Amino acid sequence: MIRIAIDGPGGAGKSSVAKAVARKMGIIYVDTGALYRSIGLFMLNCGINPKDSEAVVGALNSFTLELTFVDGKQTVLLNGEDVGDRIRTPEVSMAASAVSAIKEVREYLLDTQRDIAMRNSVIMDGRDIGTVILPYAEVKIFLTASPEARAKRRYLELTAKGQEVSYDEVYREMVERDTNDSTRDIAPCVPAEDAILLDNSELDLEGTAAAILKIVKKKAKKRTFYQKAHKILAPIIRFFQRVKVTGLENIPKDGPVLFCANHMAIRDPILIAAACKRQITFVAKKELFRVPVIGWLVKKLGAIPVDRGNANTGTIKASVNVLKRGGAIAIFPQGHRYPAVNPAETPIKNGAAMLTYRSRCDVIPVCIKTKNFKYSFLRRKEIIFGKPIPYSAFGFTNGGSEEYKDAANRIFAEVIRLGGFDALPAPGQDEDGEKK
Ligand code: DC
Repeated sequence: MIRIAIDGPGGAGKSSVAKAVARKMGIIYVDTGALYRSIGLFMLNCGINPKDSEAVVGALNSFTLELTFVDGKQTVLLNGEDVGDRIRTPEVSMAASAVSAIKEVREYLLDTQRDIAMRNSVIMDGRDIGTVILPYAEVKIFLTASPEARAKRRYLELTAKGQEVSYDEVYREMVERDTNDSTRDIAPCVPAEDAILLDNSELDLEGTAAAILKIVKKKAKKRTFYQKAHKILAPIIRFFQRVKVTGLENIPKDGPVLFCANHMAIRDPILIAAACKRQITFVAKKELFRVPVIGWLVKKLGAIPVDRGNANTGTIKASVNVLKRGGAIAIFPQGHRYPAVNPAETPIKNGAAMLTYRSRCDVIPVCIKTKNFKYSFLRRKEIIFGKPIPYSAFGFTNGGSEEYKDAANRIFAEVIRLGGFDALPAPGQDEDGEKK
């Protein structure tokens, strides 16, 4: 999955270029300006001054705004109706710029924008995509051009659509909008620290799209530390630890997913990581981060520290963030290791269910199966990935401990079922029916 953020002032050609890149890459193009424009249009239609923040905020609950994609083409539905080109007039442009400076308007649109990037590869254009909406985007580009070049493009675009405007008028409005957008207090239009600046004053559409595709290709070739380490170590670990993996087809290639496994020993996370191609973020004891070499390694692998025994709002937030950006997290619902104990007989904690609820992700039950629930060097270890339990199957209404408990039970019941652990061995026999 790839998220490409394209920010920059109006008229830099962000939308045309982003559309072209999206088409070439077969990914979704999200025009976030259309959302602000639609709110601006609604306010104008209602006779509300878009600069009157109190009135605008008061009206935010009186309409519905939906973003839909058909064959990769975005449509904005305002109260169920396609806004079409009505959002492209100079008057609506100014209204959009005014409403976009209001904090509540930006918050109102935040999830709509993030949700799309959670489950899809996207190229998203706007003003704050790289800084606020998708700070974790794999590629960030700040596209700009001289005010004269941008005003000329906008002028040609508007007149081609039959709108009667003068170049001077377009230039003046563009400079005014630039100032509004880049000097406002919240989410100003500025490049993210890690954005690549691209000035396309001298480039046409194809040239700009080609420059962006080159940046994306270069980025795609670059492997993360996790990917490099995984490529070398995973087959070695699987071989020497005698790991047999089943159910890999149940793991979605992209999108948020929470792996929930039974826990016997320290090596469990390593075996799960070695079994699965997808990059997994683990939650690790905070003490581990202070151990020489291991601390460096877990940090490099992107693990999230947890302070056991204390309320861990930071850990939950960090985990939810990984899921919300379409990543995979692994967690052990039993809370700690239970060596040589049948998982069907251990208590479980609610953390995994809470994470599912907060990030609205699907869950993959994972069963680690060894003889007598113990590890030994030569003993075969089976890692079974179950079918995803979709978020909707949990029937969450408002979270809360009862709902978490039900969901946690449901998840772990599936782990137990995968391993056949509920069929307890007869006395004197192990779980395979062999004499102990
Ligand atoms: O990109 P555009 O011209 O369609 O955007 C219309 C207005 O919306 C622009 O003046 C700034 C605002 N906007 C924003 O503040 N943040 C975004 N992500 C996109 C647009």
